Parts: sequence; C-alpha cells; structure tokens
Amino acid sequence: MYRFKDYYHNEVQLSFEDHPYSQNPRHVWVICRYGNKWLLTEHEDRGLEFPGGKVENEENAQEAAVREVKEETGGTVEKIDYLGQYKVFGKEKTIIKNIYFATVSTLTVQETYFETKGPVLLQELPKNIRIHKDYSFIMKDDVLEKALEKVLNQYIKQ
Ligand code: GTP
Repeated sequence: MYRFKDYYHNEVQLSFEDHPYSQNPRHVWVICRYGNKWLLTEHEDRGLEFPGGKVENEENAQEAAVREVKEETGGTVEKIDYLGQYKVFGKEKTIIKNIYFATVSTLTVQETYFETKGPVLLQELPKNIRIHKDYSFIMKDDVLEKALEKVLNQYIKQ
C-alpha cells in the first residue's frame, strides 16, 4: 500500500491488491490505449486526463468504466482489466476509485462528449505532467505514476 498527498494536499492511499478499500467503489478511472497511443479526454474544467467518473445506480464499477470511456472519448472498450484501487481523504468526503487498464478498438465521432471536449491521443505522456497547466489535477499525483509503471510492466512491451 502506498500513502502520499495529492495535488490539493489530500491524503491518498493506493493499492494494487484486489479491492482493498471497497467491493463496490462509487468512482472509476481508466488508463486507456488506442493502437500504440494513450487515449485521454479533455475535461472542460480540469484539462487533460484519462477518462473516468461516477458509478451510476444500476451498474457495477467495470460497467461504469466502459461507459465513461465511451462517453468521454467515443471509444469502444475491447478489453478491460482491474488494476488497483485508491482512496482520497478529501476535505468534505472520502472517495474510493477503481483503476482499470482498457484497450479501445474503435473511436466513434460523437455529438457530445459529456463534460469533456472529447478524445486526445498521445504517443507519450509529458515528463513534466505534474507542473503542466494543460493537465488535470487527477494526473498530478503518484496514482498515475504507480499505475503507469504497472501498465508498462504488464501490458506494454518496450
Ligand atoms: P458530487 O456528487 O458531484 O458532489 O461528487 P462527489 O463529491 O461524490 O465526488 P467528486 O468527484 O466531486 O469528488 C469529491 C472530491 O474527491 C473532489 O473534490 C476531489 O478533491 C476528490 N477526488 C475525486 N477524484 C479524485 C482523483 O481521481 N484523485 C484525487 N486526488 N482526488 C479526487
């Protein structure tokens, strides 16, 4: 288990065990690949980030992950795996989020991308992401770094 502070100095706990904090978390975050590129979305307020959001009442977390990828990027998920889970002790409430790794097979142009400006494909993520003004705060703590390490080791041959 890792412990660190996020961009807003909130305490974060991160683990790659099987659902250590909750069996049915209410939030999801999806590290996405399309071909040999990273697939992000541009959130209207927060900036560039991997897609994600809240689990709705009638769905489970993995279903929410697939739906959020579609809504925010137009991407159809071909394969999705659970990677880990993190817990953020926010000022007002504590949230628990599942992290997934997904491969997208097709990108469809949509009329709406919900609260985002839609898909952004990147060959590489910038090294200075933590101080990069175009990126969302959710990309600016150790969750991204540790989850990417796992994705690179497990899925992406270099
Ligand atoms: P509402 O129902 O709209 O009030 O949302 P919520 O409060 O259930 O969840 P929201 O997504 O707004 O998250 C609440 C707080 O948790 C945010 O203000 C953030 O500080 C924090 N948070 C949410 N997602 C993340 C994340 O991925 N990383 C970090 N570090 N903090 C997060």
